[in-house]
Parts: sequence; structure tokens; C-alpha cells
Amino acid sequence: TDDRVSRISSTIRVIPDFPKPGILFQDITTLLLDPKAFKDTIDLFVERYRDKNINVVAGIEARGFIFGPPIALAIGAKFVPMRKPKKLPGEVISEEYSLEYGTDTMEMHVGAVQPGERAVVVDDLIATGGTLNAAIRLLERVGVQVVECACVIELPELKGRDRLGNKPLFVLVSST
Ligand code: PRP
Ligand code: MG
Repeated sequence: TDDRVSRISSTIRVIPDFPKPGILFQDITTLLLDPKAFKDTIDLFVERYRDKNINVVAGIEARGFIFGPPIALAIGAKFVPMRKPKKLPGEVISEEYSLEYGTDTMEMHVGAVQPGERAVVVDDLIATGGTLNAAIRLLERVGVQVVECACVIELPELKGRDRLGNKPLFVLVSST
């Protein structure tokens, strides 16, 4: 496992001052260019969730759409997209969350999930935790049990984990 994690970590490109000065951007597109690293990433999540009776993999637009679906397929769960506003055509429920400047909204189709289902929320990265927190609230409002959140990368200095309350967070790489 450790071997795989250090390989994955080495494929993530770090770009300073993107999208603005002072931000160290964690670029997972370079991980995707390495088929072994990409497969190991998916495998590590699949190994963790395959025997946990997960019905729902909820992926957060946009980068959660890269990692969520292969996990869902491998564990036999449905994939539910958590989208930016006004993208989903059916009836939606939405949840507002705060960004560094202003707010954003996350939406999910009504009827995509059922009360009592067990979900894992997948995204590429947790920074402040605001995005994952909104996804948890959205799913729990409709009675879904969020078993855990799963990310490739955590930025521990931003303490996003604290914003998830007692919700478990599983990450492959911590980046300082
Ligand atoms: C990034 C990242 C996470 C979120 C983490 O997404 O992919 O979804 O920020 O930040 P937080 O923990 O502080 O909430 P972004 O909103 O940049 O959009 P994208 O995934 O569509 O590129
Ligand atoms: Mg994102």
C-alpha cells in the first residue's frame, strides 16, 4: 500500500500561484497521465469500500467526476453527481456553501438516492472542507447515511477535516 501511495504522490504536479498568487495548486491531471498511478488510486479506494455495503458513490463536480465513477463501478454502487447550479434538468435539492469570496450552490436530483442508503462522497481534494460539508448536508437532508468522505489529497494546514464534524475522512496523500 505504502509503495502505491508514494508513487501516486509523486505524480501530482504542484503549481505555484495558480489560480492566483500564493496558492499552491495540486494538479491531478498528471496523476491521470500515469495509468499505474491512476489504477492504484482507484484500487486503494475500492479495497477500502468494497465490503462496506455502500449503495451510493456521490461525486462532486468537476474533479470528483473523475475518481467517483470507476470506484462506483468496481464496488457495484450507483454514481450520483453533485452538480454546480442549474445543470441538472430534473427536480433538485440544493445546498449553499461559502467560498473564500461569496457563496456557491451544490445540487442533486431528487429521487437519485433513497433514505437509508449508504454513501461515500468522493472528491479530488479537501482544502477548507466547505465543499464536502455541503455534500454531506445535502445527502443527510434526504436521509442518506454518509459513511465516509474520500479524497486523493488533503491540505491539512487548512483544517478542512474539522469542518466535517465527526464524519470520517479517508485520504491517500497529505500535502504540506
Ligand atoms: C476544488 C476541489 C474541491 C474543492 C475543495 O474544486 O476540486 O472540490 O475545491 O475546496 P474546499 O475544501 O475549500 O471546499 P473547485 O471548486 O476549484 O472546482 P472544480 O472541481 O470544478 O475544478
Ligand atoms: Mg472540485
